[in-house]
Amino acid sequence: MNVLVACEFSGVVRRAFRALGHNAWSCDLLASEDDSPYHYACDVRDVLNGTWHLMIAHPPCTHLAVSGARWFKEKRKEQAEALQFVRDLLDAPIAQIALENPISIISSRIRKPDQIIQPWQFGHGETKATCLWLKGLPLLTPTNIVAGREARVHRMPPGPDRWKERSRTFQGVADAMAAQWGSL
Ligand SMILES: C[S@@+](CC[C@H](N)C(=O)[O-])C[C@H]1O[C@@H](n2cnc3c(N)ncnc32)[C@H](O)[C@@H]1O
Repeated sequence: MNVLVACEFSGVVRRAFRALGHNAWSCDLLASEDDSPYHYACDVRDVLNGTWHLMIAHPPCTHLAVSGARWFKEKRKEQAEALQFVRDLLDAPIAQIALENPISIISSRIRKPDQIIQPWQFGHGETKATCLWLKGLPLLTPTNIVAGREARVHRMPPGPDRWKERSRTFQGVADAMAAQWGSL
């Protein structure tokens, strides 16, 4: 299966699909963290073509997340651009698409998510509500429900790389995507 992981610098989802034999590529404006040869460092809109069977997209939530609501008034233009980017991804000519974001204005401005998942449903004892907008894909089935309910992201120390640690996809979620959506 040809899989495009849009807006991924970490390679977590790309590696999960490749481990199961798929032709998976990540794409981000940034270089890949793992120096993978299977990474496009460019605007993902330049590689949204008909060769992909499946796309998993992680667009930035900076101007969309409801947690930043108190600044919404001052960033109307950025918000409109971020929403257009989400629309461009959802409208890509790819039969199967999953787009993930936290609780965000995508729900009120585009459409409600198909599913909200938590890391604790996939083996990580943490809370972080993650919405999934799906096209041509079934809901993701929890693989390993664990007891912990810690909000680790809020305790991360400030620093230039904090956003990267906060936005990195959980391994258990990436593995579930590859196992369940890669076998359709
Ligand atoms: C919320 S982070 C997602 C990180 C991802 N979960 C991971 O594990 O690497 C959003 C990413 O989108 C990238 N990005 C923003 N605009 C982009 C574009 N037009 N094309 C490709 N990547 C883009 C950013 O550089 C950033 O790394």
